[in-house]
Amino acid sequence: MIGIIGAMQEEVDLLLAALQDFVEVERSGMRYYTGSLHGKNVTVGKCGVGKVNAAVYTQVMIDRFSVNKVLFTGVAGALDPELEIGDIVISTSCQQHDMDVTPLGYPKGVIPYQEVSDWPADPELVRIASEAGETAAPGRCRKGKVLSGDQFIADREVVKQLRETFGGACTEMEGAAVAQTCAMNQVPYVVIRSMSDKANGSASVNFAEFTVEASNRSYAIVHEMLKRI
Ligand code: ADE
Repeated sequence: MIGIIGAMQEEVDLLLAALQDFVEVERSGMRYYTGSLHGKNVTVGKCGVGKVNAAVYTQVMIDRFSVNKVLFTGVAGALDPELEIGDIVISTSCQQHDMDVTPLGYPKGVIPYQEVSDWPADPELVRIASEAGETAAPGRCRKGKVLSGDQFIADREVVKQLRETFGGACTEMEGAAVAQTCAMNQVPYVVIRSMSDKANGSASVNFAEFTVEASNRSYAIVHEMLKRI
């Protein structure tokens, strides 16, 4: 069973429209749709915004729906200056940029007493996503580190700090929570994010304008991936 998650309605609309023979189930106040998508058994749904929603949603998918692979699809703010709106980042790993225990001597982004704070994506899913990306969005996909935090970033100075501290390609609000939950359950994952904005002073305007288009581009890659998984 493949789990496919988006945070917002726009990010799952096309998935839900394409889903066949589905059953809808409610758990922990969230909705899960199990059915068939391009011939594959999938559980699809919207987790809501932020790391807690994403972690709970992913855990329920694994426990209740026996999901053994997770694909996260949606939009992000670009951090890498070479990324344009509409370009795609396929996660090599995900880290929480707002984890901050620096007063106790831990580097930013590091979770105390844990061996890993930057969770690697599954190499095989990354390979399949990259291949799918070359078909669905030729020349517009790159692999990179995804940063997550419970913050919408809309400030060039913050972008600079995030790049300097973590070297991330893009920033969003769920990926690292999905990654950590998957790692805790030994479930492979990959995050596919299309850039809706550049996390700068224009981010809120760009986000409003480009979220649907960027979400649909990310969906196109998931669609291509399902043919190859
Ligand atoms: N998702 C899309 N754009 C974002 C941004 N600028 N910050 C956080 N999450 C985002």
